[in-house]
Amino acid sequence: MRKKIVAGNWKMNTTLNEGVGLAKDVNEALKNVTPKCDVIIAVPFTHLASINAVIDSNRLGLGAENCADHKSGAYTGEVSASMVASTGATYVILGHSERRQYYGETSETLKEKVSLAFENNLTPIFCIGEVLEERENGTYLDVVKKQIEDALFNLSAEDFGKIILAYEPVWAIGTGKTATDDQAEEMHAFIRGVIAKKYGDEVAENTSILYGGSCKPTNAAALFAKPNVDGGLIGGASLDAQSFMGIVTAF
Ligand code: PGA
Repeated sequence: MRKKIVAGNWKMNTTLNEGVGLAKDVNEALKNVTPKCDVIIAVPFTHLASINAVIDSNRLGLGAENCADHKSGAYTGEVSASMVASTGATYVILGHSERRQYYGETSETLKEKVSLAFENNLTPIFCIGEVLEERENGTYLDVVKKQIEDALFNLSAEDFGKIILAYEPVWAIGTGKTATDDQAEEMHAFIRGVIAKKYGDEVAENTSILYGGSCKPTNAAALFAKPNVDGGLIGGASLDAQSFMGIVTAF
């Protein structure tokens, strides 16, 4: 059975103190509920070690929002997968559309990042998604298929089975314009079919595919009710413990 997951993506928000406070609030709130899903927060690099020290890792998973595409060495300003792992974090978001769009990440660099994540026992939360133009010109299914094929289909079935996918239509990220639950379901079912064709039904059935893009407490339940939507990757609404918990408890 694939896991249900709600993961927060804090992006470039919160100072260290604010971030530790927010993580503590989420950790506390999780003591009072029995969530029907795994809960993860992905936070800025600078916050990882401090947050790891104040959360209960059985209740709340911790991840980075990126890692370098090299092991170590003369890459000023970069943070490696082994550095991320050394903080106690066990997840890493890779291929977020903001990284692809603003920092030129390609499937080639992402392949390296995925491989380094695995070497360091980090679980990748791998993002894919089309831009508005591709949605409107009807190529969105092909675009997402190609993103998966180009960056991930070099993996063995065993390694692919460790990946969490996040479908995030770029036009829905931070725009307040959510994909409808039917649009999300169409894409998620399609992605599962693409995986099944390459790796077989069992791997496809066991892959968690999260939806991301303006997911909020008010629309999460309808999205999560869809059979192929296994949870959410939450940006804006993860910056407030109450709204994040509203999404966690939507399952
Ligand atoms: P959003 O971001 O929830 O603010 O739209 C989602 C994401 O980019 O992961």
